[in-house]
Amino acid sequence: MGFDAHWLDLREPADLRARDASLLTRAVELAGGGAVLDLGCGTGATARAFAAAGAAGCDWRFLDNDPALLSHAGARHPQAALLCGDLAEVGGLPLKGVRMVAASALLDLVSEAWLARLAERLARHGTGFYAALSYDGVMRWQPEDPRDARIRARFNTHQRGDKGFGPALGPEAAPRAAAMLRAQGFEVQLAPSPWRLGPQETQLQTALLDGIAGAAQEIGCADAAGWRMARHDMLAQGRAEIGHLDLLALPPAARG
Ligand SMILES: C[S@@+](CC[C@H](N)C(=O)[O-])C[C@H]1O[C@@H](n2cnc3c(N)ncnc32)[C@H](O)[C@@H]1O
Repeated sequence: MGFDAHWLDLREPADLRARDASLLTRAVELAGGGAVLDLGCGTGATARAFAAAGAAGCDWRFLDNDPALLSHAGARHPQAALLCGDLAEVGGLPLKGVRMVAASALLDLVSEAWLARLAERLARHGTGFYAALSYDGVMRWQPEDPRDARIRARFNTHQRGDKGFGPALGPEAAPRAAAMLRAQGFEVQLAPSPWRLGPQETQLQTALLDGIAGAAQEIGCADAAGWRMARHDMLAQGRAEIGHLDLLALPPAARG
């Protein structure tokens, strides 16, 4: 699963359904029509989720290192500021005047050290943080296949590889972020936001299977190709649950 616009478009309806509604509403309230910096914005799905939840007038600042994705985002959100750059250097993130930092489907890519730096900077600037859809390591399939647990374990190991930020936290990312932000004085809430996919979502399930099997194969899982073919054959009745967590962190000044 790369980050191309086709994959991001395919997953967006499932993401929108999965986002925890209560945290999203609180995030929209916290943003309050002010400046929101979206880290790893892709095509701007977070801004569309905010709009669907009633946000109006936010000053969106989209940051990504992929110019093609930024150009899709700019076409869909002509008012947004487009910032092409690498997120890896936390010290360079433009937080001045930003009321809230958002990140969707990003946190599981980053490292412990990166998160610690971000938590410090958010605390120093008194900036809220909404990080949705971080993969949490849960993967359930119906009908079951005896290889499911092995593939999940291999995929989760792959998720902990370096994704450009140092060794990735993968499934631990949201709980670790919550702990670090609490230590910096934030009030933090976590809520589950799993994808629950049914047989009608054949295209998304197919792309997901290909991505999971590809990642498992990359780290030497001999079962992956056979598992993928068997699951493809079951797609007409296939169901999948892919676990995620949403996080909302309120800085001390925003609570009162
Ligand atoms: C899984 S996608 C999520 C996109 C979008 N937030 C969404 O929910 O649809 C991860 C995004 O992070 C961006 N990204 C990954 N590593 C990055 C880096 N080092 N600097 C900037 N952007 C990065 C990718 O280009 C991609 O757009």
